[in-house]
Amino acid sequence: MLRNATFDPSVVTVEFTDGTRSRFHAIWLRDNALDPETRASGNGQRLITIGDIPADITISAAEIAGDALQVTFLPENKTVAFPGIWLADHSYDRDHNVTFGRTGPGITTWADEIDAPSGDWGQVHSNAAAKRDWLAAIAEYGFAKLTGGPTEPESLLQVANLFGYVRETNYGPYFEVRTEVNPTNLAYTGLGLQAHTDNPYRDPVPTLQILYCLENSAEGGDSIVVDGFRAAERLRAENPDGFALLAGYPARFEYKGSDGVCLRARRPMIELSPDGEMIGIRFNNRSSAPFVDVPFDKMEAYYAAYRQLGEIIDDPAMGVSFKLEPGESFIVDNTRVLHARLGYSGAGSRWLQGCYADKDGLLSTLAAIEMAVPEAAE
Ligand code: FE2
Repeated sequence: MLRNATFDPSVVTVEFTDGTRSRFHAIWLRDNALDPETRASGNGQRLITIGDIPADITISAAEIAGDALQVTFLPENKTVAFPGIWLADHSYDRDHNVTFGRTGPGITTWADEIDAPSGDWGQVHSNAAAKRDWLAAIAEYGFAKLTGGPTEPESLLQVANLFGYVRETNYGPYFEVRTEVNPTNLAYTGLGLQAHTDNPYRDPVPTLQILYCLENSAEGGDSIVVDGFRAAERLRAENPDGFALLAGYPARFEYKGSDGVCLRARRPMIELSPDGEMIGIRFNNRSSAPFVDVPFDKMEAYYAAYRQLGEIIDDPAMGVSFKLEPGESFIVDNTRVLHARLGYSGAGSRWLQGCYADKDGLLSTLAAIEMAVPEAAE
């Protein structure tokens, strides 16, 4: 794994057996030391603060010993071993992908060419590999169906319990999605809804939504999902300046549809990390508030980009549609995948229950299962 190491007072250069080289700074190595005085041996948490590391830290020795790099730091005169595989896994001396608007690792964007990924209720409850595959699909594609579930109210709470916790909001632990008289939200009508992300007026937004079907005999009411990351990729290809405007200025979102509630957020429609990775989409015509953070001379171009993104989202070639049967549900990554529904009316009924949950819990559960049930060990 490790072939050679050279050093100067501030940097160690490691050569791996495959011929690649990686440089590591003294301050970085000391901060990430793996010894039990730096890292708690049980939970792995760091025991030192940045201030505990001498500002004048230097390297006085660095050599290969077996499969590890041994580094001695001054003025502590402390020697720490770093396994070669750990150094290879944590190398930062590489070309960093800083493509503006790129998607992150493990994300696959899609349009109408894919079949909805799906899990089976019984399987995901009894088989760790089936649960892993269902969670992995949500992580990769941003949505998945779950079929074959019970048709009792509140079954959706069991879906959330498969990987995490319900996020309770002013709508309650869950909400009823069916036609109401004097609705507090247009979701509770038979109107069609343009594809949207939920609750962009909340900060942070709920990062997952579960919609669970209990009755669906009405005419229409099909569900449609659209990959917001794919839509943004299309906008970036067709109108890079427009993409930069939607990513570069905050939009405003607001909800005050019921007593005692006034939710407001100031966030962009396309959110990027500081190094340009796409990390979130907020798109919701019903709860957009007046945009007041876009400069006057850019407002028309901003609106043109907003219109163009809306046209891409509305393009039937972008959406995957399905009609949920009782006992079926779907889960969306609400930071990425938009959902829509066709209008419904006539005889019959449509009753869904919805709730929010969070992606950190889902990804944590997925990572823990992947460690316990790696794909190759199926
Ligand atoms: Fe919604």
